[in-house]
Amino acid sequence: MTATPGDADVPDRVRDMVAARQQQLATVGADPQALAEQLRQVFEEFTELRMHYQFGIDEVLTKVEILRKEFEQMHDYSPIEHVRTRLKSVESLVEKALRTEGEMTVRAIRERIHDIAGIRITCSFVSDAYWVAEMLAAQGDLEVLTVKDYIASPKANGYRSLHLIVRVPVYLSTHVEQVPVELQIRTIAMDFWASVEHKLSYKYERNLPPELRAELDDAARVADDLDARMERLRGEIRPMPVHEGSLFAQRPAPPAEG
Ligand code: GTP
Ligand code: MG
Repeated sequence: MTATPGDADVPDRVRDMVAARQQQLATVGADPQALAEQLRQVFEEFTELRMHYQFGIDEVLTKVEILRKEFEQMHDYSPIEHVRTRLKSVESLVEKALRTEGEMTVRAIRERIHDIAGIRITCSFVSDAYWVAEMLAAQGDLEVLTVKDYIASPKANGYRSLHLIVRVPVYLSTHVEQVPVELQIRTIAMDFWASVEHKLSYKYERNLPPELRAELDDAARVADDLDARMERLRGEIRPMPVHEGSLFAQRPAPPAEG
């Protein structure tokens, strides 16, 4: 997964925030040795935290890969086209932890940041995106924490995708960690648009010139239209999956044939 828009301009801001934090620590007159020990501990905790989230990614990725392989071998067709994963970098994690203003302990950070582990699944068809989301959500050991349906309700800028935060158990030597993983499930058209929008937002630091804004708005409409057309063609490739999902209250009706 590419860096999030918020992750893009991390280095400068992180440096400033870390400097401010150091200043704060220095002014309380902490003993340098105690401070060094504290920093070493924090570093170790962060390393462990990231390891657990990587395991969370591995667990969910295995589930996605199993579905994909099962479909490919049994049906010659898979609703899953591509899968990408990303673990939030330490820089980006520290930046978000400072920005979201809470305690800087690992426990507090875990509680308020849910996109440390991310998996992005790209599907050919809109109905497949919902289908994959429902299949994963139905698995007994995945607990769905939140669902955001930006397909039924796109963001103001035209961004469309399904977002789920799921919690997966990770079995360690001494205990079980419950790890939240952010899933982004979308079509190829939605993904293409989001990737271009992300690069433009990064380049223009989110102050897009109006003519580019208008182009992007138009591209969002074209992507939406392409998805609707492809959905009409999908019946030729594979009939609509028969499933009763319960995750998406306002799931759009499939487009009529024709
Ligand atoms: P973050 O704090 O950025 O994670 O956002 P959030 O907690 O409000 O969650 P949301 O579900 O809105 O967005 C989570 C992730 O979806 C982001 O980190 C991006 O990867 C992606 N995303 C959300 N909105 C946009 C958008 O407008 N454009 C693009 N390209 N990606 C987006
Ligand atoms: Mg994010």
